[in-house]
Amino acid sequence: MSPDPGSVLFVCLGNICRSPMAEAIFLHKARERGVHTRLVVDSAGTGAWHVGNRADPRTIEVAGRFGIEVPSIARQVRSPQDFDEFHWIIAMDRANHRDLLSLGAAKHRVHLMRSFDRTLGVDEATAEVPDPYYGEGDGFLRVFEMLDRACDGLLDRVLGEE
Ligand code: 4NP
Repeated sequence: MSPDPGSVLFVCLGNICRSPMAEAIFLHKARERGVHTRLVVDSAGTGAWHVGNRADPRTIEVAGRFGIEVPSIARQVRSPQDFDEFHWIIAMDRANHRDLLSLGAAKHRVHLMRSFDRTLGVDEATAEVPDPYYGEGDGFLRVFEMLDRACDGLLDRVLGEE
């Protein structure tokens, strides 16, 4: 069976920083637009280190500043189940993208998150959402801002192709 066209899986490495934040922002925007019941949204990591854990406290804190809760519990990408279940598989960086293809995801289903950011030029379409885990300072806020912009474009695409 083909996956539901309104199904979106966000993927990063650990599933505690970028992809749970993306999932929460995307759902928040969908709720604001009253379309969330048409969507199936989840996140997962290519790595297994944090399986069963809540999102990183810095992810929860930054999203909370914008009134967004991050309820995610980390899990690893499941092959082939996730690739049968999700129409849109959204990688945060090129390593995630490559790993998803190695795990068996179909190339036409896997997209880089920032390719949906309409404020970026064409030659920036392969830009990555950098891993903030080991960074300092405002890394999580910068990631939030990147995800926020990309989610606007992604939500329009998903709703437009349902
Ligand atoms: P994420 O960040 O991929 O955005 O969740 C990371 C979190 C943890 C690790 C790497 C990246 N780690 O190596 O534990």
